[in-house]
Order: sequence, then structure tokens, then C-alpha cells
Amino acid sequence: MNFFLETLRFIGLCLYYTLEYIFLLFIPVRKKNVAGEIVLITGSGSGIGRLMALKFARLGATLVLWDINGEGNKETARLARKIGAIRVHNYACDCSKRQEIYRVADQVKKEVGDVSILINNAGIVTGNRFLEAPDLLIEKTVEVNTMSNFWTVKAFLPAMLAANHGHLVTIASMAGLVGSNGLADYCASKFGAVGFAESLMLEMAVQGKTGVKTTIVCPYFINTGMFDGCKTKWPSLLPVLEPEYVAERIVSGVLRNDIYILMPRSLYFLYALKSIFSTKAFIPAAEYLGLFTVMDTFRGHTKKAEDKHQKTGTKTPRSLN
Ligand SMILES: NC(=O)c1ccc[n+]([C@@H]2O[C@H](COP(=O)([O-])OP(=O)(O)OC[C@H]3O[C@@H](n4cnc5c(N)ncnc54)[C@H](O)[C@@H]3O)[C@@H](O)[C@H]2O)c1
Repeated sequence: MNFFLETLRFIGLCLYYTLEYIFLLFIPVRKKNVAGEIVLITGSGSGIGRLMALKFARLGATLVLWDINGEGNKETARLARKIGAIRVHNYACDCSKRQEIYRVADQVKKEVGDVSILINNAGIVTGNRFLEAPDLLIEKTVEVNTMSNFWTVKAFLPAMLAANHGHLVTIASMAGLVGSNGLADYCASKFGAVGFAESLMLEMAVQGKTGVKTTIVCPYFINTGMFDGCKTKWPSLLPVLEPEYVAERIVSGVLRNDIYILMPRSLYFLYALKSIFSTKAFIPAAEYLGLFTVMDTFRGHTKKAEDKHQKTGTKTPRSLN
């Protein structure tokens, strides 16, 4: 095909998909049925991982719950059974360890079957300026937020490709699209997760595996405790999101096979501006949006745990590093 024809075809497709997008804003899209699908969620022991698990349980899916926090995970399983889920399997798994992921994945394949919806959700944040962040925590952040996605995909994607049926869901972050002061390692890990998921989507398109869908989720702050203490500068433009809203939006996006989910919706606009404006404008824009100071008041889970452990005289993972 020559340059002229290929460009014409490309513009035509862009117009078609834009019109389809506008059309679908007004017409309810048929949602897929996930009853009987095996849904694995990493980091299901709390936060949006737990809420997504409960939503998939209500839709009749078989749940495979992974978390390093065995107690939290058991509680998610208990809550899922309480609302009527029968097929709930919880596993303690440290997703920062490749061999452990492979070992538990083999166990899941033997005990439950092939996972058809994989939700890479486990995540951690250091919350220090880069030079003050301990090396071990920087490494751990990349291992949990990015590299664990490699190993879970290696473990479960082959069966999805063989059946040409499945769904990979990556819980990334707005920090995977835009850098932020005080979040260098976290942003790097989430940019990595976004780049990995986007590239996999293309790998599957090239192989014609249209039955395996991908969804990349990029939320702003969510009120789960992970970013406790952080304040948004403009709550009406970038509100701190409620976990229930985020979980609902992700699950319904998966049912509609959405490729990207950015939350709040203003993020679609702000992200587009990042590509359009002069690169120099990025620094005043970051200041305007509060990205200079957003981490100044960060407490997070770890700080809260440290306070608790200081009172009880025990040690936290952070103080062990
Ligand atoms: N909370 C926010 O503001 C926010 C914003 C954007 C994106 N996210 C992302 O959403 C996801 C869920 O976060 P959340 O807000 O529900 O926080 P959360 O802390 O409640 O949940 C994270 C879960 O991951 C688990 N986890 C941590 N390390 C693990 C490991 N090594 N192996 C297995 N499990 C591990 C934790 O035990 C926890 O249950 C994360 O990937 C996070 O980066 C969160």
C-alpha cells in the first residue's frame, strides 16, 4: 500500500472510532458475562482489590485472591462468601518474588484452573523524595508495581492465548502518565506498568488474538489509605476518589472491554494537554495542578503503621530496611 492510501485508511479509521466513541456515550454497551470466569486479583487483601473481588463475586465469577497480607486476604474471602460466592480461593503470595509467583500460579492452575481475567492490582508506595528513599524500598516498589506484572502475565497469558479468550487488567495510576514531585520511584514503576500493558496489547493485536482484551486503569488519588495525608489542590478538577466509585468504574470498564480508564474524567483532558502544549509549559502546569506539593503531607499506610508500632514497641517492614 502506498503512503497516500495508507494515510487515508488511517484517517478514516480514526474518524470511525471517534464517531463510534461519541455514539457509545449515548447507547448502553452490551456488557460481557463473567459468570464462571476465573478472576485472579493481586493485592486483594484491602482497598480496591477487595472491592473489585466483591463485585466479581456478585457477578458469579470464581475468585482467586492473592495478597502478601494473609489476614486481609482471608477477610476478603470471608466477605465474598458472605455475599454468596461459593468458589473463592485465597493464597498468600509475595508478588515481589518471581519464584513465589510462579509457584503459587502452578498451584492455582492445579487447584482452580486457567485464569481468564488477571487483575494486576498489588501496589506499594515509598513516598520519599528520590535521594531520601531507601534503595531496598525503591527496588521493592518496582518489583511489586511493575515486575510482578511480567511474571503473572508469563504464568497466565499462555492459556488465554491458546483459548483466544481472556482479559489482562493493569491497575496503574495517573502517576503512570504524569511525573510528580516526591514520587519518582512510584511514577517510574507505574509508567513501566502502563508501557508493559500497552505493548502487550499491541503484541496480541499483531498475533490476531482479538479474544484477549486489555484494560489499563489510571486513577488519581483514591481514599484507601495508601496515600493517606495527601491533599488535592483543586478538589473540583482532581478530586480524591472514593474506593467504591473506582472499583465500580473498573469492573464495569472490564465488562465493556474498555482499553483505558482514566479517573476522574478530567484526566483525559489534562493528559491530552500534556501532549499538545510546549514541553516548557509542563513545569508551570505541574505546579498549577499541585504536583509540586502533593506529597508534602503524605503519611500513607507505612507511616500510620509506624506510629502504631512505635506505641506498641514492635517493628514495621520500613524500619527493618
Ligand atoms: N490509593 C491511591 O491513591 C491509588 C491511586 C492510583 C493507583 N493506585 C493503585 O491501586 C492499586 C491498589 O491500591 P489501594 O489504593 O487499594 O491500596 P491498598 O494498600 O489498600 O492495596 C494494596 C494491596 O496490595 C497488597 N500488596 C502490597 N505488597 C504486596 C506484595 N509484595 N505481594 C502481594 N500483595 C501486596 C497489600 O497488602 C494491599 O492489600 C495499587 O496498585 C496502587 O498503586 C492507588
